[in-house]
Amino acid sequence: MILVTGCAGFIGSNFIHTWLASQDEPVVNLDKLTYAGNLENLSSLSGDPRHIFVQGDIGDKDLVSGLLAKYKPRSVLNFAAESHVDRSILGPGEFIQTNVVGTFNLLEAVRAYWNELPAEGDSLTKSNFRFLHVSTDEVYGTLAPNDPPFAETNPYEPNSPYAASKASSDHLVRAWHHTYGLPVLTTNCSNNYGPYHFPEKLIPLVILNALDGKPLPIYGDGQQVRDWLFVQDHCRAIMRVLEAGRVGETYNIGGWNEMANIDVVKTICSRLDVLRPRTDGRKYAEQITFVKDRPGHDRRYAIDARKIEKELGWKPQETFESGIQKTVQWYLDNPEWVKGVTSGEYRKWLGRQYG
Ligand code: NAD
Ligand code: DAU
Repeated sequence: MILVTGCAGFIGSNFIHTWLASQDEPVVNLDKLTYAGNLENLSSLSGDPRHIFVQGDIGDKDLVSGLLAKYKPRSVLNFAAESHVDRSILGPGEFIQTNVVGTFNLLEAVRAYWNELPAEGDSLTKSNFRFLHVSTDEVYGTLAPNDPPFAETNPYEPNSPYAASKASSDHLVRAWHHTYGLPVLTTNCSNNYGPYHFPEKLIPLVILNALDGKPLPIYGDGQQVRDWLFVQDHCRAIMRVLEAGRVGETYNIGGWNEMANIDVVKTICSRLDVLRPRTDGRKYAEQITFVKDRPGHDRRYAIDARKIEKELGWKPQETFESGIQKTVQWYLDNPEWVKGVTSGEYRKWLGRQYG
């Protein structure tokens, strides 16, 4: 049994699908179901006893302690977070609450549980328990065009409220290992894309806006660079780190796939031109619109993934070409999911722009 948090969201739900596709070890999924949490992402597991869903907050220490006592997980994996940079700029409070205070409370509940585990003589002991914290490359700040990609040794220089809150949580996790001996692992991954991605983020937003005949908003000059990784490759990397990562270490995860935003958007447009041509015969790229830039927008992220490749033998299975093809096709094949996710609250968010 493992306990995962935030797994009704994009990466977490993909993680549960990837995990249960290769084994039967059950998962308890603790998720608050914020605007980003969506049980539709897990509907194919309905009735499957290997997935136990609990609605709740990682910051609720009593709830977490109760779940730990009841299910006795061998590991806890923390995916739960407020994850969108634009929202963190417009309202940073929730980011501090969940990503910093929530992670602190979760660590404290886990530390109390771990303290009571036997040192030896049982299948679950103090030394084979793991707390794996899922984090981001944004903690390292931004790169100039000729800088080498982020290695695990880069200093933390977070620039957005989101990045600063994630950096804080990484530091708490590190300190709980160094001070209390909690066996932790931290992963810092680059930009993910794939199925179940909430359409406030660039790639799903562009796919759905294109199909709706809406503008495709590009912040600033569109030359900002991100390092894209197909979400299932990220999930496989997390599984590998959980299995074989060295306690107390951090692992950067990325697919050596830097692309400027404008090229990502043009690639999506050209895929859609083939898979679902516009009825007026024109090209989707005509919908591209340059808009006011995100404040403090980081110019470039890139991951040096040599540590996880060499130590743990992980490599991505998808290229950007194969991954984006699958992603665009997935959105075309799942109109009911799209309808659900784009109704209600989401509509309010879509209207906003920096100005
Ligand atoms: P997401 O926003 O899609 O999902 C977050 C999930 O966490 C949602 O289901 C939400 O309901 C839940 N949640 C939020 N606050 C909670 C709380 N207080 N208690 C319990 N559950 C709560 O995010 P995502 O893109 O799936 O990201 C998952 C993790 O991976 C985050 O920690 C994020 O920082 C990290 N990450 C994301 C990316 C990316 O490209 N999306 C890249 C690297 C790292
Ligand atoms: O690098 C990892 C991070 O990637 C994760 O930690 C975050 O949780 C995740 O949201 C993502 O952050 P980004 O800010 O890079 O992702 P987003 O999809 O919001 O934006 C990608 C790039 O596209 C970024 O340079 C901003 C730009 N952009 C975004 C939107 C939503 C646009 O040009 N137009 C848009 O409408």
